[in-house]
Formats: sequence, structure tokens, C-alpha cells
Amino acid sequence: MFYDEVKILEQKELAPGIWQMELEAPEVARQAKPGQFVNLYVNDPSMLLPRPISICEADPEKGILTLIYAVVGKGTEVFATYEAGTMLRLMGPLGNGFPLERGGEEDVRELFLVGGGLGIPPMLFLARKLHEKYPEKPIRIFNGFRSTPWIEEAFYPYGEVFSASDDGASGFMGNVIDAMEYKRIFTDEKIKAVLYACGPIPMMKAIQNWQTAYNMESWFSLEERMGCGFGACAGCPANLRMPDGSIMKKGVCKLGPVFPGEDVIFQ
Ligand code: FES
Repeated sequence: MFYDEVKILEQKELAPGIWQMELEAPEVARQAKPGQFVNLYVNDPSMLLPRPISICEADPEKGILTLIYAVVGKGTEVFATYEAGTMLRLMGPLGNGFPLERGGEEDVRELFLVGGGLGIPPMLFLARKLHEKYPEKPIRIFNGFRSTPWIEEAFYPYGEVFSASDDGASGFMGNVIDAMEYKRIFTDEKIKAVLYACGPIPMMKAIQNWQTAYNMESWFSLEERMGCGFGACAGCPANLRMPDGSIMKKGVCKLGPVFPGEDVIFQ
């Protein structure tokens, strides 16, 4: 984990209010794992708390880190005004990340990646790493957007990609769970699958329901629920099943953001 000053190489708006930022951050890019995040600081002493942003891609050879964020408050509003060349303070990589080795187990026949909204960007890094590690294993990627997809083609090299959007602007009209049901991706064959997901709570809940019906292991990233990203705001509690079976409220930023699907207790 590094606390560093990094340079913005490029910023572009992918869709209204959704921005992609490329950073020159060699050490973080070298250490990053899919599912981890960074804490980014605004260059304004009146805004002390950092903003946690998931890592969309990391190129250790070029030393480039790609982040995608939505403008949802003062801090991200300021980020969106920064131009190439601006220096920023960053802490990371933070969090546990997705366990890649689970997908490689011999009896696992299929890998599913499911992202909704701002839960999609971390799936790109994960898709690439899984594809590189297990080139023979089929990967199916389901992305759910509000409207026109703002990141889609980048996934093409890594698996079969399905998009859904609320308004039918591209792909399936409906949410990502509807799309998966429509595609009948799960059959009653007891093929073991591993599913990685990040997105809104209703999406995760639906996946949990499938998990009990099919031979499936799931891993959820709860990063969308985070505030400060480092334990200072108490803004990220989740009810989690502990190893002894008890249920406890714990901070997502400290323990996660990735958890076994069955250990997350949604209200
Ligand atoms: Fe602030 Fe976890 S995000 S305490």
C-alpha cells in the first residue's frame, strides 16, 4: 500500500456524469489486484476525507492506473474539473480484492462476471486477469447500464459479453438479472460455476437466491457502499456472517470490499 503523489495523464467523460481518469502511478499499478480500490484526495484542504474509487485497470508495465467514477458529490465534482498534468494524492491499493484462484479449480466449469452501474469498472480488470490465468475457461460477462453502455468493447477480448440497459438503448431491455434469466444462463445441470459480482443490492440479492438453487459459488464486492474508504466515517457498515456463524455489523472498507456471497446478509 502506497501513499503517493500521482499525475493525471488523461480525463474524459464517458457518459453524463461518468468519468474515466488515467493516472501515472507505477507502484500502485504494479501492486493492484482486481477488486481493490484507491483513496483519492481532492487538492483542497477543506475536503480532508479521500474518495474511494475502484480500480478499473492497472498496467504494471506502463505504470498506468485507470479509474472510472461518477460525479456524486463535491469531491468527485472537483475531480471532474482536473485536467491532464494535475498532481493528486492517492493511497492504495486498498482492500482485499477478488480471489482469482477459486476460478481455476478443476471442477469449476464456468466463470460469470456480473456488474451493475459503477460496479462494472472493477469487472474489467478482473475479466482480464481471469482470462490471462485461465485462457481455456469460458467467461460470461453481464453488464447492466441505465442507458447507453459507456464501457463495453474493452471486455470483448476476455469473454462473451452481454449488456442490459433500463431503457433498451443497447442490448437487452431490463436489468442485468432479467438479462441473465432471459438467457437462461443457469440450467439444472450441476456444473460448478464461480460468479463474481459488484453492483446494486437488489442485483446481489437475486444472485444470492440463485446460489442456493444452483451449484454456484459467488463473491460480492460491496464497494459501492463506501464513504471515506479508510475507517473514518462509519459510512460502510454491512451485516456479515463471521467464521463462527455469528452475524456482526462490520465496515466494508476495513474487511472487504469483497466477501463470499453467502456471508453477506442483506436487510
Ligand atoms: Fe468510511 Fe468505511 S468507508 S468507515
